[in-house]
Amino acid sequence: MTPGSKAFYRLTKPLVFLLCLLPLSMLSLQAFELADMSLGTNPVEKLLHEFGRWGLKFLLLTLTVTPLRRWTGWNWLLRFRRMLGLYAFFYIVLHFLTYAVLDQGLEFALIIEDVIKRPYITLGMIGFVLLIPLAVTSTRGMMRRLGKRWVKLHRLVYVIAILGAWHFYWQVKLDTLEALVYAMVLAALLAVRLDRLKSLSGFRH
Ligand code: HEM
Repeated sequence: MTPGSKAFYRLTKPLVFLLCLLPLSMLSLQAFELADMSLGTNPVEKLLHEFGRWGLKFLLLTLTVTPLRRWTGWNWLLRFRRMLGLYAFFYIVLHFLTYAVLDQGLEFALIIEDVIKRPYITLGMIGFVLLIPLAVTSTRGMMRRLGKRWVKLHRLVYVIAILGAWHFYWQVKLDTLEALVYAMVLAALLAVRLDRLKSLSGFRH
C-alpha cells in the first residue's frame, strides 16, 4: 500500500475522520460525567472555550496542508484538506450553538445586542458567517461549477482565520500568551504564502 493509492485513502480517510472526532468524544464523556470525567465547575464556559479552540486549531491545520505538501512533496495530504476544513466549520458551529443555546438561552435580542456591542463577538460572528459559504461550496460539484471563482471564494479562509485569532486574543482577560501563540502560528502560515507569491512573481527584496 503506497501513499496516494486507493487502498491508502480507503484506510486513512476513516481513520482521520475518527481522529478529528476525538475532541468531541472526550467532551461528551466529560459532559455526561462518564469514565470519571467532568467539565468542571462551569461546564458551559468549558464547552464554549474548547469548541472555539478546536475550531481555530482545525482552521490552522487546514492552512498547514499546502505548505507542508510543498515542503515534503506529499501530494496525498491535499486529499485531507477538505475534511479538516469541514471539521473547523463543525467545531465552530458547536461553539456558536453553545453560546447561542446554552449561554444565551436562544434569546435572539440578547445575541444581537452582544454581536453589536462586544467587538470580539462581532469579529467571531463575521468569521462564522464568512465560513458558511465555504462549507456550502466545499463539494466537488460546486468546485467544478464555480471554477476560478471557487479559488477566489475560498481565499476567504485567510480572513476567517485572522478574525478567529483576533477574536481569541480580544476576549482573553489576563494571560494572552496562548492566544499570541495561535496568532504567531497563523502569521507564519500566511508569511509562507506571501513569500511564495513574491518568488512566483519574481519580486525580490
Ligand atoms: C471563526 C469563528 C470563531 C472562532 C475561530 C472562535 C474561536 C474562539 C476561541 C479560540 C475562543 C477562546 C477559547 C478559550 O479562551 O479557551 C473563543 C471564545 C469565545 N467565543 Fe468564539 N470563535 C468564533 C466565533 C464565535 C461566534 C460566532 C461567537 C458568538 C456569536 C463566539 C463567541 C465566543 C465567546 C462568548 C467566547 C468566550 C468569551 C469569554 O469567555 O469571555 N465565537 N472563540
